[in-house]
Amino acid sequence: MKLDRKEILKALETITIAGEGKNMVESGAVANVITFGDEVVVDLVLHTPAMHIKKRAEDDIKKTIHELISADAKIKVNIKVETPEKAEIKGRAIPGIKNIIAVASGKGGVGKSTVTANLAVTLAKMGFKVGVLDADVYGPSMPIMFDVENEKPVSITVDGKSKMKPIESYEIKMLSIGFFTAPSQAVIWRGPMAAKALNQMIFDADWGELDFMLLDLPPGTGDIHLSIMQSLPITGAVVVSTPQAVALADAKKGVSMFMQDNINVPVLGIIENMAYFTPEELPNNKYYIFGQEGAKNLAEDLNVPFLGEVPIVQSIREAGDYGRPAALQTASPIEAVFEEITRNVVQETVNRNESLPATEAIKITTMAGCSAVKKN
Ligand SMILES: Nc1ncnc2c1ncn2[C@@H]1O[C@H](COP(=O)(O)OP(=O)(O)OP(=O)(O)O)[C@@H](O)[C@H]1O
Ligand SMILES: [Mg+2]
Repeated sequence: MKLDRKEILKALETITIAGEGKNMVESGAVANVITFGDEVVVDLVLHTPAMHIKKRAEDDIKKTIHELISADAKIKVNIKVETPEKAEIKGRAIPGIKNIIAVASGKGGVGKSTVTANLAVTLAKMGFKVGVLDADVYGPSMPIMFDVENEKPVSITVDGKSKMKPIESYEIKMLSIGFFTAPSQAVIWRGPMAAKALNQMIFDADWGELDFMLLDLPPGTGDIHLSIMQSLPITGAVVVSTPQAVALADAKKGVSMFMQDNINVPVLGIIENMAYFTPEELPNNKYYIFGQEGAKNLAEDLNVPFLGEVPIVQSIREAGDYGRPAALQTASPIEAVFEEITRNVVQETVNRNESLPATEAIKITTMAGCSAVKKN
């Protein structure tokens, strides 16, 4: 018996790996297929460290080839896991945290927090250990989005030091200034105070081992952003924009803030939120209310990756208010949307860590044209 490589690839197209929207050939997971007589070797590249997903992929491949091609085929599956290992971090790294991803926007209200929450739960579903730091000291929203607004982090002793224990919800560890203030209280933080509070949530907390820490940043490009980049070696930034021209102009400022010579935080890409409206009952109808592909074009202009688009869906807003991120809903279109975007974020993090040295926490001495620095 002689196995045919093309036939095997065709058979593999019937398999979808958990957490990947497309079939394993289309998604690029199948790196190579080699046949020798009745033997076939399939090389697979997965973006998840989850054992059960690796095992399932291997079982599915064997079963599919045996059923569709030949029951006698001798099959070997090699799985390489490509998860984003941090480049060696200099500066004030947090031990145990591999990748710190900042989610930013120029304009407010474009959906940073919604995107952060849904990225976090999707990464966790893929098998990563995930933490979220709500760095929006002016309008913290993570406690509501994760239904933990009445929780209070407790202090625990780790190696003789007292540390804050992050709150856990849907397998995500999180800290937010919202846990320390009354929801109705308007908190007026001066820049340095806010920076101090953030520093405590970062360095005086017991985050444990994390593959990803997501930072939900406040809108804009102000002094909080600079303090965060001064205290933390950020692996990369994801910029969220809606398609309107005003939002895109601000997103451009956001991207250029990270890319400034003296900041140098790699931009992993742009996500377009509220890209189009889809009525829940007509999921194939797309209405581009705010214009089409604005963020995609911006990404092209700025030469940064485009990570994907999130539609306006009522359930995304409802889920946010209700405290259960929409991407947790299995087999829903929203889950698929966030799986694709999250996969792109993971891939860009892998690329970034392979091609660039670690980010150093920046040291700002002077920054022309940025008065926010002087305030500190
Ligand atoms: N794709 C979407 N579909 C429907 N509603 C959305 C979507 N994205 C965000 N929203 C809703 O829009 C509102 C603003 O979103 P969100 O709070 O995530 O924005 P933000 O950029 O974090 O805002 P801020 O700048 O105030 O921090 C929320 O009510 C949220 O539920
Ligand atoms: Mg927000």
